[in-house]
Amino acid sequence: MINLRNKCFTPLVFRRAKYNINNHLKRTTRNLSCLLGIETSCDDTGCAIISDNGEVLGETLKSQNLMHLRNGGIIPDVAQDLHRKYIEPTVDKTLQAANISMSDISAIAVTLQPGLPLSLAIGMKYAKHLARKFNKPIIPIHHMEAHALVVRKEYDVPFPFLTLLISGGHCLLAVAQDVNKFLLLGESMDSAPGEVFDKIARRMKLRNVPEYSQMCGGQAIEMAAKKATNPHMFKLPLPLAEYKDCNFSFNGLKTSVLYQLHKKEKVHNVEADKLIPEVNDLCAATLMAISRHLIHRTQRAIEFCSKNDLIPDNKKQLVVSGGVACNNYIFKSLTMLCNELDYAIFRPTPKLCTDNGVMIAWNGLEKWRRNIDIVTDLKTLDIKAQSPLGASLVEKVIEARIPTKLFKIKVNL
Ligand code: KG4
Ligand code: ZN
Repeated sequence: MINLRNKCFTPLVFRRAKYNINNHLKRTTRNLSCLLGIETSCDDTGCAIISDNGEVLGETLKSQNLMHLRNGGIIPDVAQDLHRKYIEPTVDKTLQAANISMSDISAIAVTLQPGLPLSLAIGMKYAKHLARKFNKPIIPIHHMEAHALVVRKEYDVPFPFLTLLISGGHCLLAVAQDVNKFLLLGESMDSAPGEVFDKIARRMKLRNVPEYSQMCGGQAIEMAAKKATNPHMFKLPLPLAEYKDCNFSFNGLKTSVLYQLHKKEKVHNVEADKLIPEVNDLCAATLMAISRHLIHRTQRAIEFCSKNDLIPDNKKQLVVSGGVACNNYIFKSLTMLCNELDYAIFRPTPKLCTDNGVMIAWNGLEKWRRNIDIVTDLKTLDIKAQSPLGASLVEKVIEARIPTKLFKIKVNL
């Protein structure tokens, strides 16, 4: 704390110092907790500070998106180097924005699983360094739990609820029963939808269009799809149509899209850095096919929850989160499904759907309030590249063989 007696302030500086001290006193005398959250599981260095009433006091996100766009994908060593370079300035900037120091922090929440090991390691090491230096406990965070729960910062979504998490690294359906209790209903057996959007966009060379050059693949495809005039010229399959479970598969769909792209490139004799004339239609067809698959599996998950009393009638809620949840076409399609099945649907604001520090700090706060996972023996903490979300009901879903008839959706692009 600043010692006023030993400092000579000009009136302006004094006013500012007084303001800072008042802020500080307000927090400490009311004994408010502040949680620091650190996220480095993939390619974004994120940090946030949240007070115990859920107010974000400071947040910083250093994205590596442009570097990875240039490299044609995430190179783990490069991602690690960038996290190493940015972690300290990112945390410092967040503390400054919140106008507090580490002594005001009650605990440090940090993503330890799942994710790229080299990236996770940087967040963990820095969190441990801070924890030792300032004598703070660490709250380990599961990245997917954080994606699922951050919606509760903005909306009143009581447990239990169904959640669809769709990102660049994951695709899963789960029931969130409590802060630390999840039931996994299904997950992707190969790629994640964001990864497929990114690969298709790269192969279509959308980056060569100035308008899309700074966007991630999913966003570029969403924008291009809006300009489609005849998306139905491309026929794409419904993945896993015969499998009566809640798992996902995107590789077959990706191959079909790339095959159609290749055919059109041949027909038009497209040069190396040029795009096919039908690119907007193919983007729209891709988006619609991915949405159809997501709707189909979510519909079955809702039916499974109802048959097994996992979601009571007064809690029919679907939470959709992860980077791909930013997609308005996908969200509108899911909204139509929910309207039909009498479910309420929620998604965090877009900047909280993609990776960020706020969701980690929020998850830390939810655990702090409940006294869950507050670790002082730092040696016990380690990273995990793979980590399933909660207890698996996947086999039970497969056994149930619910014959879900694909719900017909008509949503404007
Ligand atoms: O959650 P996230 O930031 O990182 C992971 O944990 O993967 O998600 C990033 C993914 C990227 O693959 C990106 O293409 C996708 O989210 N994404 C979108 C949109 N915005 C981001 N996909 C579809 N439509 C969007 N508007
Ligand atoms: Zn994520």
